[in-house]
Amino acid sequence: MINVKNLKVKVWEKDILKWISLSFELGKNYLLLWKNWSGKSSLASTIAGNPKYEVIDWNIELNWRDLISMTPDLRSKEWIFLSFQNVPEIKGINLWEYLRIIYNIHLKNSNSEAKEITPFIFKRYIKQFLEEFKIDENFLQRDLNVWFSWWEKRKIEMLQVKLIWPKYIILDEIDSWLDVDAFKIVAELLSKLDSENNTFIIITHYFKIVDYFKIDKVYLLEDGKLKKEWWIEIAEEIKEKWF
Ligand SMILES: Nc1ncnc2c1ncn2[C@@H]1O[C@H](COP(=O)(O)OP(=O)(O)OP(=O)(O)O)[C@@H](O)[C@H]1O
Ligand SMILES: [Mg+2]
Repeated sequence: MINVKNLKVKVWEKDILKWISLSFELGKNYLLLWKNWSGKSSLASTIAGNPKYEVIDWNIELNWRDLISMTPDLRSKEWIFLSFQNVPEIKGINLWEYLRIIYNIHLKNSNSEAKEITPFIFKRYIKQFLEEFKIDENFLQRDLNVWFSWWEKRKIEMLQVKLIWPKYIILDEIDSWLDVDAFKIVAELLSKLDSENNTFIIITHYFKIVDYFKIDKVYLLEDGKLKKEWWIEIAEEIKEKWF
C-alpha cells in the first residue's frame, strides 16, 4: 500500500501540494481526476521521487516504510512505475538495449540468484510481446521514443509494464493525444495487464476509461488539495454532478 499522509510539497518556493492524504491499496485501481494545475502530475512525480518536488512536511509510506528517503531507482526496484505526461525522447539510448537493461535489473531485483538474460534470448523472449502489442521489430533499433507517435510511445510504456511487472503503475494522461480507437486499444491492453498483484493509478481529465477498465476509487484534486473521494459504485452520480 502507498499511504500519502498530510503531504506538503513545494516547487520553486511555490506550494503545490497542500496537505494531501490519500492511499493506494495493492490490487485496486484508482482514477486521479480534475482540472489543469490541480497537482496531479506533481503528486505522481513526488511518489516516483523527482528531486524537483521538495517534500516539506509529513510523509509517504510504502508498506509502512518511509518512501521519501528512498532514491528514485530504489523506488523503481520497489515496483513503482511512472509513465510521464510528457514522455521524454532520449537520443543515443537504443530502445532494445533499454528494454533489455530494465528487464535484467528487475529480474535480479525479484531474484538475486537470477542470471542476466543474454541479448540472443531476450530477442526471442520479447518477440511474443511485440506481436501482442503490434509493434514492428524494426522499432527496437530506434532511439528511445525519438520521433515516436503518441500511440507508439504509449504502447512502449505498456510493453515496459509487461516486461517488469511493477506493482504500482502511475499513468499520467495516457489518454491525451489518442483518438477514440487508439484509446480503446490502450484501455483494453491495460485491462489485460490488470491483476490482483498490481495497482493502476490513472491520471486523467475524463471519465471514459471507466467504460473499458476496472476502477475501484476516484480521487478528485483541486488546487493541490484532495477535494473529494468516491468508490466507483457511485460513478454515474459523480459523472452527472461533476462532468
Ligand atoms: N517542475 C515544476 N516547476 C514549476 N512549477 C511546477 C512544476 N511542476 C508543477 N508546477 C506547478 O504546480 C501546479 C500543479 O501542476 P501539475 O502539473 O501537478 O498539475 P496537473 O494537475 O498535473 O495539471 P494538468 O492537468 O495540466 O497536467 C501548477 O501551477 C504548475 O505550474
Ligand atoms: Mg499533469
